Amino acid sequence: MNAKNTDFGSFAQDVMLGLNSTPKTLPSKYFYDAKGDKLFQQIMALPEYYLTRKEYEILELQHEQILEQVLASNQPFNLVELGAGDGMKTKILLRYLTEQKVEFTYYPVDFSGSVLEELEGSLAKELPQLVVKPLQDTYRDSLKKQVWEDGRPNLILFMGANLGNFGVDEAKNIIDHLRVGTKRGDLVLLGFDLKKNPQTILNAYHDEQGVTREFNMNLLDRINRELDADFDRDSFVHWPTYDPVSGECRSYLVSEKTQDVTIGALNQTFKFEAFESIFTEISKKYSLSEISYLASLGGFEVKENFMDSEGYFADVLWEKK
Ligand SMILES: C[S@@+](CC[C@H](N)C(=O)[O-])C[C@H]1O[C@@H](n2cnc3c(N)ncnc32)[C@H](O)[C@@H]1O
Repeated sequence: MNAKNTDFGSFAQDVMLGLNSTPKTLPSKYFYDAKGDKLFQQIMALPEYYLTRKEYEILELQHEQILEQVLASNQPFNLVELGAGDGMKTKILLRYLTEQKVEFTYYPVDFSGSVLEELEGSLAKELPQLVVKPLQDTYRDSLKKQVWEDGRPNLILFMGANLGNFGVDEAKNIIDHLRVGTKRGDLVLLGFDLKKNPQTILNAYHDEQGVTREFNMNLLDRINRELDADFDRDSFVHWPTYDPVSGECRSYLVSEKTQDVTIGALNQTFKFEAFESIFTEISKKYSLSEISYLASLGGFEVKENFMDSEGYFADVLWEKK
């Protein structure tokens, strides 16, 4: 794969739009450059970040049931993964499918070219017989373009609670893209982090080692590096919040003082009042009834909800009606 860097124009444009908004905001997809990918791998291994361990447990213990239907059809299929990342958990499914000797092509889609290169390299070593076609693209654009093989059934993976990184309206819009991008009988496996003790959730985004803080700060460093800006990261505080009503965990970077930040590539100076914030990320937690509602919006039938032993996380299998 020829990984391209993030399109400079759209990064600059999104930063300009976000910092000119009230309140200020930056899209979380830009967390993931080569440094952000590594920081996210460290986050996944943190004791507070239960999400990865719980989803790993589900896939490890229940992969046979999860893949039962796709195997029973005994037809070549496309395995499309939206926001594949390093594929650490997906490899449980890939190994099992390979052992079953079924014919399929794996299409990992990710916005980050560096993580796709890493994934392609590790799969070439660990599962050399696998047919892998990486796609550097966004969730929405890949679902619009559908470059995967026509006429085959699709199993679309959208794991890692990736849909939780969207607010309610945007999540519905992504589900609509899934509705349009699938045909009758296609399966979708989505990972959702479930509502639980608010402290457990908040701790996952406020780890003691400060890796999540660094992950957020990398966004300012990245703007400095790529867009010739002068953010002083030490004058910003990382501030995660959790609202148990909406289920929304939100992360902010708060300016501790009145300051000006100049972004050379935009030829613009942005004014920050003391304690003005930049909204950087949402990680929404769901109830099972909210998940079923999303399924119905997309024209999907809920086949089964696979949960971990503590009921922290759900991988839900939907079929297009
Ligand atoms: C939270 S990580 C999860 C990775 C993996 N699914 C897992 O569970 O470990 C999200 C991944 O999605 C990618 N990503 C984030 N926003 C995206 C978008 N809008 N379109 C495509 N990929 C995106 C990131 O680069 C990152 O690799």
